[in-house]
Amino acid sequence: MRWILLFTGYWVLLTGCANVPTTGRTTDTPAAIAPTSIPTERAVPTDGAELAPIEPEPTDEPTPTLEPTIEAAVLLPYLDANLPIEERVEDLLARMTLEEKIGQMTLIEKDSISPELVTEFGIGAILSGGGGSPEGNNTPEGWLEMVSSYQAAALETRLGIPLLYGVDAVHGHSNVMGAVIFPHNVGLGATRNAGLVEEIGRITALETLATGIHWNYSPVLAVPQDIRWGRAYEGYSENTELVTLLGNALLVGMQGENLSDPTTLLGTPKHWVADGAAEWGTSTTGDYIIDRGDVTKIDEAELRRAHIAPYIAAIENGAMSVMISYSSWQGTKMHAEAYLINEVLKDELGFDGFIVSDWQAIDEIEGDYYSDVVTAINAGIDMNMVPTDYRGFISNLREAVLNGDVSSERIDDAVRQILKVKFMLGLFEEPMHDGALLSQIGTPEHREVARQAVRESLVLLKNENGALPLSSIEENRIFIAGQHADDMGLQSGGWTIEWQGFSGELVGGTSILEGIAAKTDAEIVHDRFGNFEQVEGNADIGIVVIGERPYAEGQGDRADLTINTTLIERMRERADTVIVILVTGRPLIITEALPLADAWVVAWLPGSEGAGVADVLFGEHDFMGRLAYSWPRSIRQLPFNFDNLQAEGCDAPLFPFGYGLSYGDDGAVDVIDCP
Ligand code: GLC
Repeated sequence: MRWILLFTGYWVLLTGCANVPTTGRTTDTPAAIAPTSIPTERAVPTDGAELAPIEPEPTDEPTPTLEPTIEAAVLLPYLDANLPIEERVEDLLARMTLEEKIGQMTLIEKDSISPELVTEFGIGAILSGGGGSPEGNNTPEGWLEMVSSYQAAALETRLGIPLLYGVDAVHGHSNVMGAVIFPHNVGLGATRNAGLVEEIGRITALETLATGIHWNYSPVLAVPQDIRWGRAYEGYSENTELVTLLGNALLVGMQGENLSDPTTLLGTPKHWVADGAAEWGTSTTGDYIIDRGDVTKIDEAELRRAHIAPYIAAIENGAMSVMISYSSWQGTKMHAEAYLINEVLKDELGFDGFIVSDWQAIDEIEGDYYSDVVTAINAGIDMNMVPTDYRGFISNLREAVLNGDVSSERIDDAVRQILKVKFMLGLFEEPMHDGALLSQIGTPEHREVARQAVRESLVLLKNENGALPLSSIEENRIFIAGQHADDMGLQSGGWTIEWQGFSGELVGGTSILEGIAAKTDAEIVHDRFGNFEQVEGNADIGIVVIGERPYAEGQGDRADLTINTTLIERMRERADTVIVILVTGRPLIITEALPLADAWVVAWLPGSEGAGVADVLFGEHDFMGRLAYSWPRSIRQLPFNFDNLQAEGCDAPLFPFGYGLSYGDDGAVDVIDCP
């Protein structure tokens, strides 16, 4: 608890003895004082005046020797946790200058500002973007130290308003070496297990809070309609109901029952709205094709049915922060869409938290930066993820207010929402983390939950000739091909350690190969190129682990999703039974390749616990995963017309939404000839 002594702008030292004169000038003495703590902070003048030195009034009386006994403290209303949050917000707001208010609306990327400048500019929020680890020290301790340095700086500001630190812990605290990396949402969608996803939310909250971070840019509530989109894997499904179910399970898991719970992590449903409905070829950002594109082919009724629905549930589940989408609605950038933000999200749906922009997204609004700032803030955005040129944002918004282009009421409204959430999170009472939760990061229990998620996400597409389950008999000889078999970066996908993901080792966890090797004493030979020149003879079982290299956002927009079959063809020459495991963020075009292998398994992007794959391959657990996305026969089928999707014939998907075999099923797959 922080006490601030204040009395009309001066530091007032009150003793417990009524007959001893005070040492400072006093006017209207504040109400009753609760002398329960020794003040530890500098006083805070209400009018921004510098603290005047406190000199005793001149007197011919001998200066009494002050024997300070119990010091009492006057607690400013906004710091009084016993007062209703609304009162605390209004008290604090009334004390703030315009610059301090704008500082609260400014979200800066951590490498773009020092802690000292956070204090100087009164910045209200800092983020680590994808890969935003502490320089050269990507450890949980290093993260806590970095976050704490920014928080301490914020507490040094005139009013001591704590910072909100945000991160994309989108499949576990996935920037942090040592954290558990869960399967990406495309795999969780295949589990359909809301209880499991809620538990993943709880674990993500613990491991993220352990590093002092209270704010997570998750869950993604996108309902991806075209899997050529580089963010399809961040979506749970093409199906709105499944997105609503699992996205809200994660939100509830992260936020718990009450935002003031010390293990609560503030979620951020994103990206408002219909980011997953953008149309191929409509992006105007760099060489992106569909990411940040335009939504023109659906009407408002469909927009509400298919894409707004998950947010209605999120608001009911206590969402207090929402991020706006880069995409456009009928040609208007979402960051400029006052109707859908102010009138629909805030007024009609009653969202009562704060709205945050996406990374430098307001800059993509037509017009110069000044007009971007005016348009975005008036459209309802409360906090701007600048993320670098904070001086530019602050000066432009200040000018806009002085010009009357942004009203002071709009500024107060934005700051009110931000402060409210900070009070709800208990940040004013407990802004700092002492590291007590660090031991929660990467625990065996957390890894076991992730391994269960891997198991339940696996989808069996084909299983002929008794290929699966694998036998663990020692006599078997197993060849394994593909770099994806033994690379934890590749098996984790984008938004892992680096924004675009990486190739290499994680701290903790298991690769798919390690999981297989742990199940059998059979001879295993791994050749990422599938040549196996170093061994004579053939294998009983050949496992080919192939798929996509990591990507994020528009860098994953892809016109051609056909797999390369080279490794499968090589394995066909060297093994009696061939099994293909796909490590991928989305369905791929495998129609022509299907006959080349006896069994096909989709592992999606399993994350750190690759051993979960072997748990099912060897039959200890059955296949439970069911497709959360329709699997196209040909790229020419995309985007699917879900309102009129054929169940049979060449216009039907190769595998429909909900498809997935289990061990008892007939695993034969007959592929019809299509043009
Ligand atoms: C990115 C993403 C958004 C993410 C933000 C911060 O551009 O669009 O999902 O939360 O920036 O990393």
